[in-house]
Order: sequence, then C-alpha cells, then structure tokens
Amino acid sequence: MAISTDVREISEQVIAPFAKHPLDPLYSAELEETVAILARENHLGDNVRIASINLIEPAKSLVEKHQPRSPFERKALAVLMDRGKRASYEAVVDLVNKSVSSVTPLPSGVQPSVMLDEFSECEQAVRRSPLFQAALKKRGVTDADLVMVEPWSAGMYGTELPEDKGVRRLRALCFLRSEPKDNGYARPMDSMVMVVDLYEMKVIRIEEYPIAPLPPEPANWAREYIPNMRKDLKPVDIVQPEGPSFTVEGNQVEWQKWKFRVGFTSREGLVLHTISYNDDGVERPILYRASICEMVVPYGDPREQYYRKNAFDIGEYGLGMLANSLALGCDCLGVIHYFDFPLVNSHGNVTPLTNAVCLHEEDFGILWKHTDWRTGQSEVRRSRRLSISFIATVGNYEYGFYWYFYQDGSIQCEIKLTGIMNTTALAPGETSPYGMEVAPQLNAPFHQHIFAARLVPSVDGPNNSVVEVNSVGVPTGPSNPHGNAFVAEETLFTTEKEAQRRVNSATARFWRVVNPSKKNRLGRPVGYRLVPGENCPPFVQPDAAVMRRAGFTSNHVWVTPYSPQERYAAGEYPNQHPTGDGLPNWTKANRKIDDTEIALWYVFAHNHVPRPEDWPVMPVSMLGFGFRPDGFFERSPAMDVAPPPAKSECCH
Ligand code: NI
Repeated sequence: MAISTDVREISEQVIAPFAKHPLDPLYSAELEETVAILARENHLGDNVRIASINLIEPAKSLVEKHQPRSPFERKALAVLMDRGKRASYEAVVDLVNKSVSSVTPLPSGVQPSVMLDEFSECEQAVRRSPLFQAALKKRGVTDADLVMVEPWSAGMYGTELPEDKGVRRLRALCFLRSEPKDNGYARPMDSMVMVVDLYEMKVIRIEEYPIAPLPPEPANWAREYIPNMRKDLKPVDIVQPEGPSFTVEGNQVEWQKWKFRVGFTSREGLVLHTISYNDDGVERPILYRASICEMVVPYGDPREQYYRKNAFDIGEYGLGMLANSLALGCDCLGVIHYFDFPLVNSHGNVTPLTNAVCLHEEDFGILWKHTDWRTGQSEVRRSRRLSISFIATVGNYEYGFYWYFYQDGSIQCEIKLTGIMNTTALAPGETSPYGMEVAPQLNAPFHQHIFAARLVPSVDGPNNSVVEVNSVGVPTGPSNPHGNAFVAEETLFTTEKEAQRRVNSATARFWRVVNPSKKNRLGRPVGYRLVPGENCPPFVQPDAAVMRRAGFTSNHVWVTPYSPQERYAAGEYPNQHPTGDGLPNWTKANRKIDDTEIALWYVFAHNHVPRPEDWPVMPVSMLGFGFRPDGFFERSPAMDVAPPPAKSECCH
C-alpha cells in the first residue's frame, strides 16, 4: 500500500495538542499517525487494507478520574485485512508511545466489515467479467454502462459452495437503468447474481435464474424529472437573533441543564457519552454511553437469489463510513452547530467528513399547560428541545439517527427511514405473497428494519438495576368488587436470562432503570424509564440461518453486566460469521445484573409492508424510544421554564 512520505512527515508533529478529552474520537492527525506507525512497523503492505481505525475508549474509571489538562492514554484499534494471506488482524496502536502494542489475528472464517473501496472495486470486477458480459448479451442488454451493480454482504447460511469456503465475498444484484441517471431500482434484473471474491477481486461465478421481464415504468426522482412542482409554499425562517442556547466546547455540549460529549465511530456513527443533568447545582449522571450499535434488515422473499438479503448495516458496513455531509437549510434548519469527523479509507488516506453531525434547537410545541377556570390563572410553556443527529446512506436506503433532549429531563432516540426500496420484478398479472406491487410489475418485498440501541446507564451512579413494569387488571372479587382495579406490577431482573424480554402492549410494559442505593424523597430508588415505541418481533423463523447472526433480534430487551468488550449486539464481526456472536452468546453465562454496572440493550423493529406511496422515494417513517425520568426528580423538572414572550393575551 502507498503511504505518502508527506503523511509520515506531518504525523511526526502530532497527537497531544489535538485531543482535549479521553473520549474525543481520533483526530485526523491521530489517524494519520496510526497509519504511519502501522506502516513503520511493517503491518501494512501492498495487499493489506484497513477496514477501520477507531479510538479504544479508555476504561470508565480513567474517564471519570480525568482532570482537564492532565495526560491520558490514546490508543487506536486498527482492523487490517491481508488479501494475499487471506487473514485479518486487530492491531492496537499506542499513540502516546508511538508503537504497535499488540496484533491479534481474527478467528478463522470471520471477516472484517465490508470496506467502502471494496464496493466500487467489486463493481469493477463484475464489469470486467466475461460471465457478466455474456449474461448481458443473453438478455439483450447492449449498454453495460446502464447496468447498476449493487453488492450485498454475502452472510453465512450453510448453503455456501465449496468454492466459497474461506473466501471473503459479496453478492452483486443487478438493475438496468433506462438512461444514465435513471432510478435503477425501477428495473430489477432478477435473473442474475454475481458472486465476487474480494481477496482476488474477481467474479467466482454467476448464478442465473429464470429471466423476468423488466417493469415498464421509469421512476426518476431528481428535481429535473418532476414537472409542476408546487409553488404555493411561503418561506419559514428559523431565526435565533441572540444565537442558540447551547454551548459547545470541543466535543462537549451544554444546553439548559444537560451536559454530554459527542463521539463518532466509523461503525456506529454518532455516539453520546457521559450524559448528565444539572439538578439544582448537582451534576447527576444518567447515561455513560448511548449509541445505536447494530441493525439488520431481513427481507422476506424466500427465492434462491434473495433469501440472503439481510444486511447488517452497522456491523457489516459501518454507518459512520456512510454518513452524509449535511447541508444547512436542507438537512437541518435553524442555527446549527456542525461537528466534523475524519474518516480513513482502506488505503489509509484520511479525509474529513464535514458537517457529519448536526446540533440545533427546535421549538417542539407545548411543554406544559393549565388553566384554572375558577381563578382564571393560565400558564403555558413552550417546549424547546435539543436535537443532535446524523444521516447515513446505505445503498438504496437513508437512515437518520436523532437524539433529542427535553426540558423535562427526557431523552428520546428517533430513527428516520427514507430512500428507495429494494425491488424485484413481476411478470404481467403476477403478484408475490412476499411483497407488494408498488408500481406496475414492480414488487417491493416485505422486510423489517431492526435496530439495537446499547445504553450504558449511570443513573445517579455506576451501579444500576432494571425493573420490568406490567399493568394488569385485578379480577373482580372481594378486594375489587366493581372490577375497576388494576396494578402496576414490578419485577426486578437479577440475571441475564430473566432480562430477555419482549414488548407487550397488553400490559403496557415498560422498564425502569433504577439505582438501588439512591432513594428519592418518597423512598423509592431513583430511576429512568425506558419507554418503547413502535416495535414488533422478527418474522423470520427462529431456526432461519440468518438468526445465528441476528439472534439479538429475538428479544426487545437484554441486560448484561457492563463490559467494554461487549460492544455490538451481533458481536464484533457479524460479516460472514459462521456461528454468530453477541448477545445470545454472552448471556449464556446468565451473569448477575442487579445493583452492578450494566448495559441495557433495546431492540426495536420497523415492519415494512410497502405501499405504492413509498415509491419512488419513501417519505420518512419514524420509530424509536424514550428514556424519561421516573422518580429521578422530586417533581416536574420543567416548572422553572420561563413563559414565552407574550405575543397575545394568553401568554401573560
Ligand atoms: Ni423499509
């Protein structure tokens, strides 16, 4: 691999001046330094690619003890793949001592995530292939440039051929554009899948299926294709003449009584650290770390060419690598603070991603209101919320990840789904039981978007427990003669297996994270409530091959003892993992989880039964969850929010 001498020279001067805090993501100069150290110690070469480089977050105890301007460790974890040796490694690079401190091979058969460069190299390999060219000829396709090649992770299904063994692979689906800027998904070529060896970067084989006709309609979505755009919308300007109410210092954000740090990894994208709330001068911790750590999108089409469509967009691709550079006035409106984060490609070149994360305030309707009709007293408060977000484009889909902070002590995570649905073709008059016809002869298969949040609670201290609350009616009888009674039953989870739970609307189920050693003035342990939103179980069978890797989706809630090594719900390397890893594996030990440092995993699914209105570009669908104070404060913490400036009789 080519490391330019420039990079090495620049990186001699770096490190300490950049990182202000142990949790700061690696700065550009630190990434360059990491690459230079790896090169110097002969861990790079022509055949070696860099799958990722990220900060190794220091131990909780070190972060908590950290004092401004005191020295701290800076370590990078580099995941390297040697194409020649067909082997991958984790290298730990110590940026203070400027050396590689350890190199560990990945277990045999396990693959690092797909690298961005591999997608385009894979496409080129497909285009070079005589098998591809012959297949196009057979289908009467004369202009190969109009074929849209879409590589998908190959997974591991137990149906691999002998030639696949030990091979890093992608499976490329093909679509045919009607013109260079056409929406390729309008014309799926269902009849061919190219299987590509990423070590050799060449096509292993073509899988051919019955040739289906192409759907007749184009589905262009760019502005030049949309006639008669609406002209009747008057402008809305968000004006904050005195500036925003938040302050940003490095990666630390303070807003109202909230304080947190902004992080970013190539895998998860946005990460929030050390979230706390200033309660009457006391800084009370709530969450040590919060991120969406994994997701999987299983498709319900059982056909041979499609049953492997189950992208793990975080573990197999990396949402940080796919993050957008956001545009003011389009992606975000108002007075925006943008965070830039650097990305490193597989060749070790570091480039900044500007405007990766957007921070701004929003008016969010009313916060609280009451009118006493007897006395005429009337009070209303506007809700201001702080929004921090990023958006990733994963092939056909866009995912927006939003975290909101509210003045009543609540936190909310919201995911916005948009983009273009993946499609298959239908013959005239044909329908599919496994999808919906969304345009003539165009089928959008049923699928689910399943996300896993990893929350490391620190509710008033490191040792927390989780309690499940189910509301249940009391049978009519002597203690409930009129049949109206119901109770909220609390169950404390003491071990991992007890805490493997699903949502239940029949009991209005929710979960409380409590600190057993800190009581509120009413004598109950202080807590925060995990409020589920839209959710459903996975609809793939428990014995489906994908569930070996996606086993984390079998429950909506998991609680584990906190371990910095247990970071991702499907494990560290879901790409082609033969047996699967992550939550189902770790929790076999059935460890103790009460009154200790824990991680709370919330898994939530959007079930996508497509509509014609989701085509050609799907309007945003939203889902997520809340994390709301439940006995954490003595009363509503939103009472001291000042009334809005009066613009009419009602506000004063
Ligand atoms: Ni969808």
